[in-house]
Amino acid sequence: MLPEAYAEKVAGGELRDDAAQASLITRLSSLAEALETREQRGAIGKFLGKNGTPKGIYIYGDVGRGKTMLMDLFFASLNVQAKQRIHFHAFMQDIHKRRQALREGDVVTQVAKDLAKRAQVLCLDEIQISDIADAMIVGRLFQALIANGVVIVTTSNQPPNQLYRDGLNRDLFLPAIKLMETNFELISLAGPTDYRLGRVKAWESFVTPLGAKADAQSQKIWERLTDVPKGESGEIPVLGRNLHVPERAHGCARFSFTELCEAPLGPPDYLALAANFQTLFVEDIPALKISQRNEAKRFVLLIDTLYDAKRHLVASSAEAPERIYPSGDQRFEFARTVSRLQEMQSAAWWGQKIVET
Ligand SMILES: Nc1ncnc2c1ncn2[C@@H]1O[C@H](COP(=O)(O)OP(=O)(O)OP(=O)(O)O)[C@@H](O)[C@H]1O
Ligand SMILES: [Mg+2]
Repeated sequence: MLPEAYAEKVAGGELRDDAAQASLITRLSSLAEALETREQRGAIGKFLGKNGTPKGIYIYGDVGRGKTMLMDLFFASLNVQAKQRIHFHAFMQDIHKRRQALREGDVVTQVAKDLAKRAQVLCLDEIQISDIADAMIVGRLFQALIANGVVIVTTSNQPPNQLYRDGLNRDLFLPAIKLMETNFELISLAGPTDYRLGRVKAWESFVTPLGAKADAQSQKIWERLTDVPKGESGEIPVLGRNLHVPERAHGCARFSFTELCEAPLGPPDYLALAANFQTLFVEDIPALKISQRNEAKRFVLLIDTLYDAKRHLVASSAEAPERIYPSGDQRFEFARTVSRLQEMQSAAWWGQKIVET
């Protein structure tokens, strides 16, 4: 039973008692009961039609709140045969592959029917829509799955109405949002604690000098904040075009100084980064020459944007902030950046609540 499984982990010291999590456990637990009852009724359940299919649950909230952990606990303790737990990206890749194999007819409905035979409960981790191909079919796919009795439990950093924000042809995605809002119980997991953040000490977030030691340190912080050794590459929309993100995972994005400040990026790019990520890794910041005024300007703009949005910064740099650009015609603007970089290394900065942009 789910509440007992959670209580056991708290009692054993593996988890800290968290009121927001406990209340989600109660909701997940009633869903588990409904699903187990449905399974016990077996064939009869099939004739219950719409009313026999409980609503799914859509859990959303900031990174590190325990969404995935709780969904996994729900999945593990759920006494239902036909269940599947999969990452949303992997799920969509599989869907696109199956669609291509079928090619003709109402392929989405056909794919949903096949899936429903294997899984009557589908746990999808990390819904995030950044791809137009996903945006265009996810609504129809969910609808067809629900029609076939599949109950979906999912996690996301955003509520449905914020998915695919600023995406191409977003209008066509609106019915999918409506569908999720009608068919899922939307639950925000909004506890105050980012359990991953507790693993980073503020003072280690700005690493100097560059070299193997700095790389290892940066990698260590990346793993503490994301729980994965390497993120996925992807794109974020910026004013009708896309900005390439070399590595992203769990609200973190990882770039080199070259990619962010030597490439011709501007204010909309930096704003989009701040809007999409809570923590930005900027690696290999060199000591800037007097002639590198454009790089210095971009770096100032980048740090200002992250500072205003109260984002976290993890950086590796050849020099301490005050020695990155000590002379040159941008040095006065840079002085403010130095002060901000120092503040961004404080425990208070890392401890504050992230604001929405
Ligand atoms: N109550 C808790 N006590 C201690 N550790 C916890 C607690 N809840 C979650 N954690 C741990 O914090 C880490 C982050 O949790 P989890 O991966 O579930 O977060 P999430 O909300 O899914 O984040 P994201 O949005 O980035 O996917 C995990 O290692 C998890 O085991
Ligand atoms: Mg998660």
